[in-house]
Amino acid sequence: MRVLSGIQPSGKLHIGNYYGAMRQYLKLQEEGADCFYFIANYHALTSVFEAAKLQEYTAEIARGYLAVGIDPARATFFRQSDVPEVCELAWILSCQTPMGLLQRCVSYKEKVEQGLAPNHGLFFYPVLQAADILIYESHLVPVGQDQKQHLEVTRDIAIKFNNAYGEILTVPEAYILSQAAVVPGIDGRKMSKSYDNTIELFEPAATVKKKIMRIVTDSTPVEEPKDPEKCTVFALLRLVASSAESEEWARRYRAGGMGYGEAKKRLAQLINEMLEPFRERYEQLAKDPAYIEDVLREGGRRARAAAEQMMERVRRATGITPAKKAR
Ligand code: ADP
Ligand code: TRP
Repeated sequence: MRVLSGIQPSGKLHIGNYYGAMRQYLKLQEEGADCFYFIANYHALTSVFEAAKLQEYTAEIARGYLAVGIDPARATFFRQSDVPEVCELAWILSCQTPMGLLQRCVSYKEKVEQGLAPNHGLFFYPVLQAADILIYESHLVPVGQDQKQHLEVTRDIAIKFNNAYGEILTVPEAYILSQAAVVPGIDGRKMSKSYDNTIELFEPAATVKKKIMRIVTDSTPVEEPKDPEKCTVFALLRLVASSAESEEWARRYRAGGMGYGEAKKRLAQLINEMLEPFRERYEQLAKDPAYIEDVLREGGRRARAAAEQMMERVRRATGITPAKKAR
């Protein structure tokens, strides 16, 4: 079974990314799935307009994913642009994509509302995403809830293409990463780099601690009972502590006599313990950029070989390449 997912290089990785996405990617890798994970740098061109920034973010994702445990011996980890055939397939698919399908996509409207330039790339984005998925004959696509519509668009495009040209494309399934895993940021909203409320995966332990001590809590006095379900500190504790310890904290919240400061200190300790091995590996990788580049190139070679096979079938089916007999 082929699993595929793309990650936009658009900033620093944070623990929301880890619990919401990266951990599931690693689990699928551990389970022995044929994983293709790529850095969606063509997609990032819709919102990152400085070459140096795009390079920096791409390098950050590469180093970050390797640091947390993406294993190039088991997963194919690559840069989207090392397989330029996706752009070719995207064009061919766009000729099977009804305008209305893209006009209904909420992500375009949302991004424009957020202030992104309404360029054609942003509108075309789901078609390129469909090409990413279909070119590698992916079966399962683990993504966040916000990508569900793009997966439906991909399926619609694949079915339409197959109706026109024969059963060439594999119709993929979305694997929606748990909604329950929405990780709050230090201000209580969803942790997101756009809100500047993140705990980054690779920042120094002292910075992590400082941020945790700044988490916004209510003003219930120490002696009063507190509701763990309404507390950002508890929501984060639950992610990193054992279930026995989480239950104990929930009990202490409800009993009263416990200050938020105490819970924050323990949270900082647990998060830093969890992050320490990641940081170490991240630092090691900094010394070896050539290794990272080799991993991406090798992943790109493997991915491209798979893509090239699919493109041959697509080119032949659509009449771009002459039929075998005629050659
Ligand atoms: P950001 O919101 O920081 O821009 P992205 O949109 O780049 O993050 O997210 C990359 C991946 O991480 C997505 O699969 C998304 O579902 C997941 N993710 C991001 N933030 C969170 C969060 N706070 N909780 C759970 N998952 C998250
Ligand atoms: N659109 C995805 C996101 O913003 C990134 C992405 C690009 C992707 N191509 C993909 C995800 C293909 C899954 C499959 O998170």
